[in-house]
Amino acid sequence: MRSWFNGLGAGLVVTALLAGAVLARWSRPASTPSLAAEMERLTRQPHFVLIAEEYGNPYWDLVRRGALAEAQRRGVTLEFTGPGRAGIQEHLRLLDRAIVSGVNGILTQGLSEAEFKPLIDKAVSRGIPVITVDTDAPGSRRISYVGTDNYASGRLAGQEMIRATGGRARVGIITGSFQSANEVQRVQGFRDAIRSAPGMQVVAVESSDISRLVAAEKAGQILTQHPDVTVLFGTSALDAMAAAQVVLERGLQGRVLIVGYDDLPQTLDYIRQGVIYGSVVQNPRAMGELGVALLVSYREGRSVPPVVDTGVWFVTTATLKDLEARREQEGGLGRAAVTP
Ligand code: BGC
Repeated sequence: MRSWFNGLGAGLVVTALLAGAVLARWSRPASTPSLAAEMERLTRQPHFVLIAEEYGNPYWDLVRRGALAEAQRRGVTLEFTGPGRAGIQEHLRLLDRAIVSGVNGILTQGLSEAEFKPLIDKAVSRGIPVITVDTDAPGSRRISYVGTDNYASGRLAGQEMIRATGGRARVGIITGSFQSANEVQRVQGFRDAIRSAPGMQVVAVESSDISRLVAAEKAGQILTQHPDVTVLFGTSALDAMAAAQVVLERGLQGRVLIVGYDDLPQTLDYIRQGVIYGSVVQNPRAMGELGVALLVSYREGRSVPPVVDTGVWFVTTATLKDLEARREQEGGLGRAAVTP
């Protein structure tokens, strides 16, 4: 009885408080001071823009998530944009629009230094700090680069492939783009690494334009034109999974070894099934998270490092569990793995 009464009493108090709050809100004039203050706070918040290589690309969604989490912690408004289909001209147009609109900080790739440097420098000369993420433009006035050492990552793929094949392979490469610095560096690193194994030969290099569809088309083309290919190497996030699909379709599983980039769920599934041998896993969330953190630090007058290497590790069926445990431990973010 007593507890029933207590329960009821507590319920009434809560109801009364809620009713009071609702009434207080109703009786206020349309533009209340607290609402105005909230609007003021939001408009005064720094406004950063993150420009992806491609808006709907799942890899860039991971960068966005990291950036957004940090932006929320730091009281920053983060706008996410990018070309609908990857394309340097559209990327540059979005970068210019961000500069003209006078945002407080920009995160972008430096896909090709010749084209990106003038715009990055224009932003910085107008007092808008720019951080390059994922792909650097080291000759520009960007304040920092946060991302993978792309050349070293290509070398790592090459070394792992030598180990997996015993140094004998005919390799077909599907690369994200012939223009993007990160992709060019990955292919170069790979070529340099396999130079130590004379039994390894690159027989074809095709571009997927970072599209999964095109990657599948190019994988098929390579396998048709070079039936002696024993390795397919995909250097951007969707290339290896597309190659895996083609290899399965043609019943070539076990005859063609596949190596890729990143740890998108389907890539991991194919690794689990033994269709993809291994992947160079990057840390895209950490790129977004640390990119925003460094922009905030810079705006607060603190010095920021010119380069933050977010690291890579090579994942195969043998190390998949370690990767999953590590991601779990980091709460889905890769920041713990990086010391800026
Ligand atoms: C690269 C990004 C690219 C993405 C495309 C990643 O491996 O680091 O630059 O936009 O793949 O899917």
